[in-house]
Amino acid sequence: MFKLILKAALVMTAVLGTPAFAGNTMKPHHQTAGLKCNSCHVTTPFQAVSTEQCVKCHQLPQKKTDYRGAPDKHDSPHYGPTLDCDNCHHEHEVSENYCNNCHEFDFKVP
Ligand code: HEC
Ligand code: HEC
Ligand code: HEC
Ligand code: HEC
Repeated sequence: MFKLILKAALVMTAVLGTPAFAGNTMKPHHQTAGLKCNSCHVTTPFQAVSTEQCVKCHQLPQKKTDYRGAPDKHDSPHYGPTLDCDNCHHEHEVSENYCNNCHEFDFKVP
């Protein structure tokens, strides 16, 4: 079911070119925390936000060795802790599980 919804969203995105909601929504956790657009966007006009910006506020999350049986996505055997946040955490679109380009891990990216 979830996959179907996701597919529908992707089709919409393809049809509309860019996601219609880009820039108009923030993730609930950032909304609640009272972030403003320029908490992340430090250039005018706004461009995609770099990992450097994320880690000004966030420590790289602590290593979790057992998250529902899946390995640590913040420190993987392939990339260590060096993957850009935006590979998984999108701010204006549904986040994605980058690892599942190749694996089938059961974790959900906030
Ligand atoms: C928590 C950080 C964060 C906040 C807050 C934020 N953005 Fe973004 N924004 C991003 C990231 C990361 C991207 C890259 C695409 C993605 O991950 O969704 C992006 C992409 C964009 C883009 C596309 C830029 C491009 O050239 O690709 C626009 C426009 C934009 N944001 C507008 C806004 C507006 C307007 C707000 C306030 C309502 C806002 N953003 C708040 C992180 C943020
Ligand atoms: C201005 C400070 C600030 C910036 C910049 C920022 N965040 Fe956040 N973020 C917060 C705060 C505050 C919270 C809510 C409290 C918490 O969970 O740490 C939060 C929450 C989150 C959460 C959810 C945490 C949870 O427990 O579910 C994720 C994921 C996240 N941020 C990722 C990012 C990413 C990726 C970027 C860069 C695109 C980013 N943040 C940029 C301040 C920031
Ligand atoms: C390969 C995908 C992936 C990448 C890349 C990634 N994250 Fe996460 N992140 C997750 C997932 C999945 C969770 C959900 C909690 C979990 O599974 O540990 C998460 C949770 C979080 C949380 C909530 C706190 C926690 O430990 O649960 C924060 C904050 C966060 N990520 C920040 C970041 C920042 C900052 C970056 C970039 C430096 C980043 N993440 C890169 C997948 C990723
Ligand atoms: C481009 C494809 C690809 C991506 C993306 C990918 N992996 Fe893998 N991964 C593999 C392949 C192929 C193997 C098996 C070969 C090997 O063991 O080196 C593997 C093996 C592993 C193993 C077991 C190997 C060991 O040394 O314990 C873990 C754990 C793992 N991946 C975690 C991750 C995580 C976490 C991510 C996301 C951050 C990820 N992978 C992203 C292709 C990928």
